[in-house]
Amino acid sequence: MSIKVSPSVLTADFLTLSQDIKRLEKAGIDMLHLDVMDGIFVPNISFGVPVIKAIKKHSNVPLDVHLMIDRPHRYIKEFAQVADILGFHYEAGSDVAETLKEIRKLGCKSCLTIKPCTQPEEIFEFLPLCDMVLVMSVEPGFGGQSFMPSALDKLTKLRSECEKRGLNIDLEVDGGINAETAPLAVAAGANVLVAGSYLFCDEMEKRTNYLKNL
Ligand code: DX5
Ligand code: ZN
Repeated sequence: MSIKVSPSVLTADFLTLSQDIKRLEKAGIDMLHLDVMDGIFVPNISFGVPVIKAIKKHSNVPLDVHLMIDRPHRYIKEFAQVADILGFHYEAGSDVAETLKEIRKLGCKSCLTIKPCTQPEEIFEFLPLCDMVLVMSVEPGFGGQSFMPSALDKLTKLRSECEKRGLNIDLEVDGGINAETAPLAVAAGANVLVAGSYLFCDEMEKRTNYLKNL
């Protein structure tokens, strides 16, 4: 399985973002990761639909929207209009199966996301409704944190369960991904790498290439 790279714009300079997106697209990124935070599910506030709409006008890759919001089912319709892949948290208080089904019905790829406190076995029953599963390797809320190695075992368990069930699901990892941690995540079974602070720097092309070729 080839590696897909999904840069998180959370730590980017929003006033020069369209130039950075062009550079990243030229370097071969596969999607863009957009972190939506409501100040309730996580202790931070980021951006919502209007900003994603603006980013959509300046990008040619699928938008991978990571909702970190309380009871996300309330906003699925709005975000489905601007997302290509729409993900929400297992722990956020919505009916998981219904929300995954609704995302697909609205024409997006569905993604179920787990925080570091959630064990992979808890979401096995939902795998047939997922196009992607996102394993958080930091506590959601902020960019620039250190990778939690406990994510590796979760990725391995999820990859083997998908194989056992014959499901071709993307496995994404998010948080603290860099030159040292990315190879570990890929070896454990991840095929989609989110990276924020590692990619948004002068070396974004070189680093994108490095991740893509793992
Ligand atoms: C954290 C976000 C991440 C974050 C990643 O809640 O979901 O996408 O921006 O940033 P880095 O790669 O710097 O850990
Ligand atoms: Zn994220």
